[in-house]
Amino acid sequence: METVSVGSDLVVTRLGYGAMQLTGRGVWGEFPDREAAIAVLRGVVASGITFIDTADAYGPHTNETLIHDALHPYPENLVIATKGGFIRGGPGPGHYGAVGSHEYLRQCAHLSARRLGVERIDLFYLHTPSATDTPFEAQVETLAELRAEGLIRHIGLSNVSATQFQQARSIVEIAAVTAHYNVSGRTGADLLAAAEAAGAVFSPWHPTSVTDPGQNATRFADVLDPICAKYGISLPQLAIAWLLHRSPAMLPIPGTTSLAHLEGNIRAADISLTADEVNTITHLVPEDPKVVQAGR
Ligand SMILES: NC(=O)c1ccc[n+]([C@@H]2O[C@H](COP(=O)([O-])OP(=O)(O)OC[C@H]3O[C@@H](n4cnc5c(N)ncnc54)[C@H](OP(=O)(O)O)[C@@H]3O)[C@@H](O)[C@H]2O)c1
Repeated sequence: METVSVGSDLVVTRLGYGAMQLTGRGVWGEFPDREAAIAVLRGVVASGITFIDTADAYGPHTNETLIHDALHPYPENLVIATKGGFIRGGPGPGHYGAVGSHEYLRQCAHLSARRLGVERIDLFYLHTPSATDTPFEAQVETLAELRAEGLIRHIGLSNVSATQFQQARSIVEIAAVTAHYNVSGRTGADLLAAAEAAGAVFSPWHPTSVTDPGQNATRFADVLDPICAKYGISLPQLAIAWLLHRSPAMLPIPGTTSLAHLEGNIRAADISLTADEVNTITHLVPEDPKVVQAGR
């Protein structure tokens, strides 16, 4: 599989794995079938993928603990990215809050490291810039402090605007960003451009989606179905293949609870689309940078 660099020293496969789906309903609590979840995580590593995305908010905590239980001691080349800054008051999207205070973000990083069983977190994202208790720059300074202390190897930002990305870069090196960006929704478009220019990795979340947020109906079937038919692939596979063609900075993290889908997503990384196909999909929706999605 092709690789991409996170910072100057970590090389990971361009196709990662997002572990969030391995939680209970509403990203709350334990995934109901623990053995199946462990099998998927072990399948991820066995397939050669070397980048896993998680967060303390997934569960909360259960996702990081599951990754530890399934994979620790970790293969040397495995990079686990986690995130801190969100708080959860219950299941589902309606109970997310954010805290950005110095001690809270420090606690997040220390406890994620403890749950994951690592001395240093390879990539630690500020999960959201939406906390109002602390200025954004001060939150970035806390992450810079953790990096200087050696608890964090690289710093990432999740769901930030391009302006916030540049503000953060004036404080400390930012190795990666993650935002909502896929075939049907491009809220992270300006951030992608900024990440490309800065040499940072861009990890699009919800990468397999070809629907409007909250909808089930596939958009653009008339355009996408013939391309799928030509390569004998599914829509999620095409969505992943397009992202990988869209930018060399791209590090998609499709999430699945199914070993069969995992295998399909890995095969998608080998599909060579034509330049026309890539352009057609790129221009299906405007890349409006104005709205930054709240995230999960
Ligand atoms: N930073 C943030 O704020 C934020 C927000 C959301 C997500 N994330 C991260 O991004 C990762 C991915 O996002 P996501 O899980 O929301 O979206 P996603 O990966 O685009 O979609 C996951 C869904 O797609 C299905 N799927 C995956 N591969 C498939 C395939 N080949 N064929 C058919 N269905 C397939 C999965 O069902 P099956 O289980 O049946 O395969 C699952 O329901 C998460 O795991 C998380 O780590 C970050």
